[in-house]
Amino acid sequence: MDLPEEVVERAKRNIEPFDTEGFVLGKGPVPADIMMVGEAPGENEVYDGEPFTGRAGKELDKQLSYLGWTREDVYITSAVRSRPYKWEKRPNSEEKRKANRKPNKKEVKAHAELLDLQIKTAEPKVILLLGGVAYQRLVDEKGKISEVIGEKLETPILKYDREQDTYIPSDEKYIVIPLYHPAAVFYNPGIRDSIYDSLDRLKSYL
Ligand code: URA
Repeated sequence: MDLPEEVVERAKRNIEPFDTEGFVLGKGPVPADIMMVGEAPGENEVYDGEPFTGRAGKELDKQLSYLGWTREDVYITSAVRSRPYKWEKRPNSEEKRKANRKPNKKEVKAHAELLDLQIKTAEPKVILLLGGVAYQRLVDEKGKISEVIGEKLETPILKYDREQDTYIPSDEKYIVIPLYHPAAVFYNPGIRDSIYDSLDRLKSYL
């Protein structure tokens, strides 16, 4: 996806004060009927320069294939394009290593303009939100994704207004479907049935 250099450079500058590394743009067709918005890249993605190439990506591929899709059918991006990390001590050692972590609100804001522009450029007919970070970024800043998982929402989406440094609902409505983040099943294997229920609902909408 071609994006103005100025916006990309601003996003890179904005994220500099935070503990993040790398910069991974999205991947997929443009325009795209379906856009998926995740959280942020992890170690593997930053290394590969592509979204969802690690363990969560394998789970995502399984879900895509359940839906009868491949990665060529969807534009995949995330709320934050750099890998947020924290330093973690290894067990029985003084050695520390970087571990992935969830992006915080400031990091999400640092890349908000970029996500808005990607949505505008990809012109998706449906936006799938993978996890709470994407849901709060685009639909409801304080909302709980668990209350709307698998629902087809027709809603304005939140766009970042640089002058006012705040999010403002778009004039137009979008079809937005909140889903579990593919990595959620690793932390909570009990939700597998619920994940596939929401994928079945998604199939019935499309
Ligand atoms: N999680 C995300 O949200 N995005 C990626 O690219 C990888 C993991």
